[in-house]
Amino acid sequence: MKELTDIKTIEDIQLLVNTFYDRIRKNELLGPIFDGIIQNKWPEHLEKMYRFWQTVLLEEHTYFGSPFPPHAKMPVNKTHFDQWVGLFSMTVDELFVGETANRAKWQGERMATMFQYKIAYYQDQNGQPLA
Ligand code: HEM
Ligand code: HEM
Repeated sequence: MKELTDIKTIEDIQLLVNTFYDRIRKNELLGPIFDGIIQNKWPEHLEKMYRFWQTVLLEEHTYFGSPFPPHAKMPVNKTHFDQWVGLFSMTVDELFVGETANRAKWQGERMATMFQYKIAYYQDQNGQPLA
């Protein structure tokens, strides 16, 4: 069996992202939410996510954007984020091992936690945007 190595190249990022979103799309809870919003723009979404993780994990700055705003009004709660984090961590562990792989899991969890606080805040304002 092939020894697992760390996340080192853009090809590694592409493998991680492709494998993760294949699973997302097959997930009963998350698949319909992603497909409903992304529709026929999966190639663009995957390209964007390669750049996001390349920026976060390889320190090659190719993603310029605001990660949170598209999520602000999604119908998601802790159950959805727990599944997202579970699938992401499982995918990282199946494919890679090392410092950067650990950092990927940690960053995914942190972002999920941050998004949940922000979404809960928006929902408390009854969907009104920040003044
Ligand atoms: C308390 C936690 C965090 C806050 C408040 C925060 C806030 C923000 C904001 C406001 C932006 C948009 C900046 C802009 O408008 O130009 C941004 C961009 C970004 N964030 Fe965060 N973030 C947090 C955590 C994270 C985490 C955990 C990650 C990694 C998974 C991350 C990765 C990024 C990246 C890659 C960008 C794009 C940077 C760029 O365009 O150059 N952030 N963040
Ligand atoms: C239940 C959890 C989540 C759901 C349902 C979700 C869903 C989505 C969808 C549907 C889009 C495409 C939005 C559009 O094109 O209009 C998107 C974009 C994105 N997501 Fe998530 N997401 C989740 C969690 C996360 C987490 C935890 C992260 C970070 C680690 C993340 C990072 C991003 C980024 C960077 C984009 C691109 C933003 C941009 O347009 O620049 N998402 N997400």
